[in-house]
Parts: sequence; C-alpha cells; structure tokens
Amino acid sequence: MSESTAEGSTHGPSEEAVTDAVTDAVRTWRTRADACVLLDGFHALKHALRFGAEIPLVLTSDRQGAFDLAAELAPDVTGELAARAVAVPDEVLRTLVPRLHPTRIAALAVRPSRSAQLAALAAPSRTAPVVVLDQPRNLGNAGAVIRLAAGFGATGVVTTGTLDPWHSTVVRGAAGLHFATAVEHLDVAELPAGPLFALDPEGKDIRSYEIPDDALLAFGSERSGISPELRARADHLVSLPMRSQVSSYNLATSVGMALFHWSAGHEFS
Ligand SMILES: C[S@@+](CC[C@H](N)C(=O)[O-])C[C@H]1O[C@@H](n2cnc3c(N)ncnc32)[C@H](O)[C@@H]1O
Repeated sequence: MSESTAEGSTHGPSEEAVTDAVTDAVRTWRTRADACVLLDGFHALKHALRFGAEIPLVLTSDRQGAFDLAAELAPDVTGELAARAVAVPDEVLRTLVPRLHPTRIAALAVRPSRSAQLAALAAPSRTAPVVVLDQPRNLGNAGAVIRLAAGFGATGVVTTGTLDPWHSTVVRGAAGLHFATAVEHLDVAELPAGPLFALDPEGKDIRSYEIPDDALLAFGSERSGISPELRARADHLVSLPMRSQVSSYNLATSVGMALFHWSAGHEFS
C-alpha cells in the first residue's frame, strides 16, 4: 500500500520513520499555511477533493476515524484520502490549527488564482447567475451563500466591501465548497457585465421576472441593505414575497430563494 502516512502497520515504517514523517509534515504545514486555505474537518476536505482543489497537505490525528467517515459518507474520496493523509499525534495537530475540528482532520488547499476566477466570472456565455453580496458583514452568512451557490451551480460569488470571502470562517461555513464556484472580492465598478437584479424588499415581485442565466443577483448588507453604488448599477430592483409587518429575510435565505426562482426549469447533474 502506498499510503503517505506516518502510522505503522504490521510491517510498517519504523518509529524513527514515523517521527521523521511527522516532523516533515509539520515543517511543510508551517511553511505553507499562511499562503493556503485551511480545510477544517472532513467535509471541507471532501468537497475540496471532489471539486479539484490543489491540496498540498492532509493531516489527521484519527486516521481510522477518517477512513470510517469516508467509507460511510463519501466512498468516492477514500482513495485520495488514503494516498494523502499523514497521521500526526493529536497534541501536534492542535498546535497547527486554531481549534481542532471534531473529525480531527485538517488540510491545506491552494487558493485558485484571481485571474482564473475573474475569467470565469466575466465569461460572456455564462450559464448560471453570479451572486453579488454587497458589503456583507457576517462571515457565517457569506459561507452559507457560497454553499448555496455551489449547490445551484452558480457561476460564482462576488463580495464588495471589507469582508474577505476566503476567510477561514467563511470557508468553514461553506463546507469547503469555494472550489465548486468562483469566489472573489471586487468593487462595484469592477462587476462583470450582465443584467443586474438587486434584491430589495421595496422592489417589484421577483415572480414577475424570468431571471436570465447571465444575470447578476445582488443582495445588500445585513444591516443597511443595497448600497447607493450598487443601486445605481442595478437594472431591476426585485423583491421576494413577504407578508406585511415583516421587515426582511436573512441574507443567505434570500439568496436561496432567488437562486431557487432562477433554477425553475433548469436541469441539475
Ligand atoms: C437582512 S436584509 C437587509 C435588511 C436591511 N435592513 C434593509 O434595509 O434592506 C439583507 C438583504 O437580503 C435581501 N432581502 C431580505 N429580504 C428581502 C425581501 N423580502 N425581498 C428582497 N430582498 C430581500 C436584500 O438584498 C437585503 O439587502
């Protein structure tokens, strides 16, 4: 078996080799962690593997548990996991991550190049909308939106404002699905071409529109809604049905409803 693991078996590596493998893994982690994206736990790793992320290092302090999870929930990644997972002691893994995930797996992935992401977002023949989050504040909301975008096969998610859409909390909230869609930060002036539908409770009912595949679906910040800059760029101001006396929906929930409306009549593979 050609597993790159530091754990021994009946005729496995010597104790010295195990220690060397752990030392190498820790050195690689420390060298690369700052420039990479942290995949925190089994599910983030599973999605990153499925969507072709470049993953230089996978560490676990519960190798058997990782294989059991893969066998039960994602047999398609078992081979990749076996080939990549390096077993390290729990106390070592805890020094490398802010908080060890209950699945006791952590991995590093290379963030896709900005130029590749921008090319995907600006592709002239887009077959699914780009979601624009205008100055979002909440990292968990941003992660949930990226997960939704991945699930619906959206072209990508763009954020404006100060939130980093590749922040480790966002990646955790998205369960590693950043690699299934294009995720970038842009200014409003840099948004890709295409009809822009700004979601706002004061807009016209979204059900009276068919959302085109090359649309930009824009959502305002949790606190103040759509910014004046984005409002000025919008082609349509559209609302989600909501009874009177309710002020607004949660941001991620709104994205889910708008993507669901777009998806009517689309096939999913
Ligand atoms: C929590 S809401 C923002 C509420 C904010 N106080 C406001 O004035 O709009 C976050 C975003 O979700 C979207 N949203 C929430 N409820 C909506 C609705 N009923 N119709 C359309 N968009 C909605 C909008 O894009 C909104 O900017």
